[in-house]
Amino acid sequence: MKPDPLKLIRPTIAALSPYSSARDEYKGNEGIFLDANENPFNNGYNRYPDPYQWKVKQRLSEIRRIPVQNFLLGNGSDEVIDLLFRAFCVPAKDNVILLPPTYGMYKVSANINDVEVREVQLDHNFQPDVERILSRCDSFTKLLFVCSPNNPTGNLIRSELIEELLERFPGMVVVDEAYIDFCPEHSMAEMVLRFPNLVVMQTLSKAWGLAGIRLGIMIANADLVKVMNKIKPPYNINSLTQETALKILADIPTMQQNVITLLEDRILLEKELQRLPVVSRVHPSDANFLLVRFVQPQEVFLYLIKKQIIVRDRSNVILCDDCLRITIGTPEENHALLEALKNYPLQKIR
Ligand SMILES: Cc1ncc(COP(=O)(O)O)c(C=O)c1O
Repeated sequence: MKPDPLKLIRPTIAALSPYSSARDEYKGNEGIFLDANENPFNNGYNRYPDPYQWKVKQRLSEIRRIPVQNFLLGNGSDEVIDLLFRAFCVPAKDNVILLPPTYGMYKVSANINDVEVREVQLDHNFQPDVERILSRCDSFTKLLFVCSPNNPTGNLIRSELIEELLERFPGMVVVDEAYIDFCPEHSMAEMVLRFPNLVVMQTLSKAWGLAGIRLGIMIANADLVKVMNKIKPPYNINSLTQETALKILADIPTMQQNVITLLEDRILLEKELQRLPVVSRVHPSDANFLLVRFVQPQEVFLYLIKKQIIVRDRSNVILCDDCLRITIGTPEENHALLEALKNYPLQKIR
């Protein structure tokens, strides 16, 4: 028996009467708007944005081939993560399971919301151990975050493991697909129609190149979306973001071409990095970054900063010993990185 999301929702949220705008209550009767204390003089942005972002969701629904009622949008996925904590976890009572090494915001959001974190390390292939996860659950366990492709390791989580978790985990399984457009055939998004306990998160920040507009996507059971709509700030996606999203979502070929280019460049960068004496391992990646083990990670990190190249130091993260995480840049940027690493003073290596 799969858990029913509506039974897992915090009682306070289930009973909440949400903020409601007159414009929304009387939709279809619009003419003169004297209801929201806006400025009447039209400069393109004097009105509040659509609180449910129907046009953007309609477009996402066409692209993902999932009904529009299954979408909720957030001010970045980071807002979606926070909303999930607020929807499901009673502070100082409930708990969530995280699978380190993984994206840092899950833990930050848990801490902000005063929710206990139970960590179950990934195995040495960066895959989850289902039995260990289940052994850490109790009746207060509400969420499990599975990041696939995982940040910072770059690999996909095996779909049969996620399916097993969907069958056996007692709470909601949140699959963060921030990097899924780099391997779209592996998305689990359509499975929300079969599994009420599955939440899939996606974002326009990566393959779509829109990190600056802040648009995160939650795809889930339609009843859950209704509840989450009650707790999101009414106008969480501003008009500029909605407009820009629609413009970029109209042009799928450009996004796909960028993805192809980045994937080709990732292969090139991986090959070149493997030839460098300062590199001891390049982990395989399904995303737009590489987790690379260096002989002297801290020294290389500081050396690159001196060359004005910033990468992410993950060398102190569990299972990522001696690793730096490197985003695939433009061909020029990748070239600059490689040149810098080729010139790293070898005599310094122990
Ligand atoms: C796994 C993962 N999820 C979510 C995000 C954040 O996405 P957004 O920009 O939509 O908040 C990131 C950003 O690096 C990420 O790596």
